Amino acid sequence: PPLHRILSLADMENVARQVLSYKAISYYSSAADDEITMDENARAFSRFFFNARVMKPVSKIDISTTILGFPSSIPIFVSGAALAKLGHPLGEANITKGAANSNIIQMVSSNASLSYEEIAQAASPSQTLFFQLYKHENDAIAIKRIREVERLGYKAIWLTVDAIVPGNRERDIKSPWILEEQEKPPKYYTEGEGSADQANVFGTAGALIVNDDRDMTWERTIPWLRSVTKLPIVIKGIQCVEDAVLAAKAGVDGILISNHGGRQLEYSMPPLEVLYKLRRQHPEVFDKMEVYIDGGIRRGTDILKALCLGAKAVGMGRPFLYAQSAYGEIGVTKMVDILKRELLTAMALLGASSVNTLTPDMVERVDWQPI
Ligand code: FNR
Repeated sequence: PPLHRILSLADMENVARQVLSYKAISYYSSAADDEITMDENARAFSRFFFNARVMKPVSKIDISTTILGFPSSIPIFVSGAALAKLGHPLGEANITKGAANSNIIQMVSSNASLSYEEIAQAASPSQTLFFQLYKHENDAIAIKRIREVERLGYKAIWLTVDAIVPGNRERDIKSPWILEEQEKPPKYYTEGEGSADQANVFGTAGALIVNDDRDMTWERTIPWLRSVTKLPIVIKGIQCVEDAVLAAKAGVDGILISNHGGRQLEYSMPPLEVLYKLRRQHPEVFDKMEVYIDGGIRRGTDILKALCLGAKAVGMGRPFLYAQSAYGEIGVTKMVDILKRELLTAMALLGASSVNTLTPDMVERVDWQPI
């Protein structure tokens, strides 16, 4: 369908499902075990309802913000997801260019299918790129990768901590890599032993997530990373209140509450619920560092609920992969336009004129679930 007929992220995903290969859709859409956590990530949003206020001036609404001090036209960012080339020959560069057009920030995956340099070259000179780090178990190899992205101008390190071993994604494991050019697992940047054979036996994650540091600790890893780089550090993959508090104590610049889109620990708590609990139990954490969530965000109202509960911004993984697979660069820009329109509408109807004025009392958690 022509792009103007795409009204929602669900429409975009439907197009992607028609154009993607069996392998690509299996890898992109799959999650751990019975995919309960993936589904609940999204469903959690339907337990939160707005306390809409009327008679508030909303003729001018400001949805722009900053993430780690870098400007963004809307409080969303690209959560780093691997292998964009599986869905479109231009791969991650589609997302980079779409993000430039939309003035949003892209977090580039350690397992991107283009090199970090190719992605940096696709960016406009003023564009902000963040880097998602899978820390190699060998510190020296990890440092080499950090130096490379520093040199290329990436602006922050997002250390993923929820994927030290690959999750059990059965739909991905069942769907084999076939050895046509488009269907080959691309060159890996993990300096591991990833291979097509390995991917076919252990699933794509089993080939990508190799030689990751499984012995990371708050005491060792955060001071080490601080000593290695001056870039801001965000921990990606916080899944409970306790760890959010420890991250604040460790003095990181931010946390991304995330369960990897349900792809890692099945029955990990939905990020929105963790955010809600954190805001109630430890409001002080939000003054010490920026808090973000990702997982299941598909609508402007989803973004708005997370912001009301204290998130500075929200990430999205699959929607960007689907948008770039379906329409390339312009699909990404269209996706962000849809979310901007949805967020503006929702804010007007909620009675909020700026993202800085959103507060937890604007949403309520209900104990019933709409059908
Ligand atoms: C991911 N994700 C991910 N995370 C990460 O830190 N490094 C990575 O390489 C990847 N790769 C990856 C591939 C694919 C296909 C998906 C779907 C996800 C997780 C990603 O950053 C993000 O946390 C989730 O995608 C968020 O959930 P939604 O938005 O997809 O529901």
